[in-house]
Amino acid sequence: MSHTLTDQQHDEARQGEAFAPFAEDPNQYDRHFFIESYGCQMNFADSEIVASILQEQGFGATRQLEKADLILLNTCSIREKAEQTVRKRLTEFKKLKKVRKGLLVGVLGCMAERLKSKFLEEEKLVDLVVGPDAYRTLPQLIEEAAGGQKAVNVLLSREETYADIAPVRLDSNGVSAFVSIMRGCNNMCAFCVVPFTRGRERSRDHRSILAECQDLFDNGYREVTLLGQNVDSYHFSPEADQAPVNFAQLLEQVARISPLLRVRFSTSHPKDITDEVLTTMAKYTNICRYIHLPVQSGSTRILQLMNRTYTREWYKAKVDRIREILPDCGISSDIIAGFCTETEEDHRDTLDIMRYSGYDYGYMFFYSERPGTLAHRRYVDDIPLDIKKQRLQEIVAVQYELSLTSNQQDVGKEFEVLIEGDSKRDEQDWMGRTSQNKVVVFPKSKAGLKAGDYVRIKIDQCTKATLMGRLVE
Ligand code: SAH
Ligand code: SF4
Ligand code: F3S
Repeated sequence: MSHTLTDQQHDEARQGEAFAPFAEDPNQYDRHFFIESYGCQMNFADSEIVASILQEQGFGATRQLEKADLILLNTCSIREKAEQTVRKRLTEFKKLKKVRKGLLVGVLGCMAERLKSKFLEEEKLVDLVVGPDAYRTLPQLIEEAAGGQKAVNVLLSREETYADIAPVRLDSNGVSAFVSIMRGCNNMCAFCVVPFTRGRERSRDHRSILAECQDLFDNGYREVTLLGQNVDSYHFSPEADQAPVNFAQLLEQVARISPLLRVRFSTSHPKDITDEVLTTMAKYTNICRYIHLPVQSGSTRILQLMNRTYTREWYKAKVDRIREILPDCGISSDIIAGFCTETEEDHRDTLDIMRYSGYDYGYMFFYSERPGTLAHRRYVDDIPLDIKKQRLQEIVAVQYELSLTSNQQDVGKEFEVLIEGDSKRDEQDWMGRTSQNKVVVFPKSKAGLKAGDYVRIKIDQCTKATLMGRLVE
């Protein structure tokens, strides 16, 4: 994925990421499922849990739609456009259902939770609807749907973390994997649908997280990304006589598995990331120098309306602290253009904080009102679409400039790069990443290298999205 994306490009990129999984030996199964995932990394991680539950039931994963007995869409509700994409896809599958008797289509994830049984009742687009905390009931729901019943379970849970389910890695490069460390979100950012679609925050047992990371490492993986909507509020209390584990401690435990295992995490909320996390990062070179620290807006007034609970000054002080403790740390952000009541001055504050922070990448969106959210209930979505889009374009232009400047500063320097695989553009080149999460492309000048190897690369050239270099012997 490129480093800076507009809302539309972002959704397209995400769509491009929608994947159909592949099973090691599809022939050992009588029945097959096809799954496509949309939205954030958490949804992709969830699809791997779903794959594991289905495999237990004798369903093998397939990439071929024609072979599928069950089609699942793991959906996202974050912006209206994400939902539209899924609806379009479902109408395509409806046509398929007409010609293929017995084919079942199911909606999983955040749209299932938001729209509940609407898909089944009003639109008759699908056979089953399963919310993010109800995947364990998939086997029964599939039976019910096959028997012609309406199969729906969108109950949210306060405990479910799927801790004991070993994910089946789908479409993996065998080098990097996502590991879910918590679910849900207790923040109530005014624009955001996630607390409604994913429920209350809960943390997964650190022992099962460690076991999963160790297992990945033993199987040749060299990078884990610990996932949660707000990782810095990770908090697991084991039995009464044992001390609770916070995020910094979890990070340290995972980092100690091996110096050869890179550790990443996402997402950090600016109000919650602590000095303890930053100093833990500084202590271990295998904890990657990269923090995704979404600002959303640079205006204190807008931040308050958004209920982000920090000010512009607080955010800038966090950036300063990161630079102080981790001078070589990459920082990226999420930004929303045109939130309710945003003035030109508020918008300029956003452009200004982007420059102050010197983001290496940015994910940028225009505000999309979501039913049921605080903003929908309390504010008027009053910024016209053309102004939202114009401000977004200005934000994108600044980010392009910042990404290019950041990459240009790396030309002439050497980096340790973890090889992920062939470069997409040219099979004669390897593609990998620096600790700062920047994509590096370099020629396959030395025999014997493979995905999962660490190499030293000297950077010769760059674009705003990629560093190009060569092996240092
Ligand atoms: N938990 C993460 C964000 C998850 S959603 C965090 O707190 O940072 C990913 C991003 O989508 C958000 O950071 C925000 O920038 C964007 N987003 C969420 N709701 C949105 C909406 N209603 N309209 C536009 N963008 C939105
Ligand atoms: Fe949404 Fe805010 Fe929670 Fe992130 S922290 S998932 S933006 S409510
Ligand atoms: Fe989308 Fe749900 Fe993630 S709304 S961004 S898939 S938590």
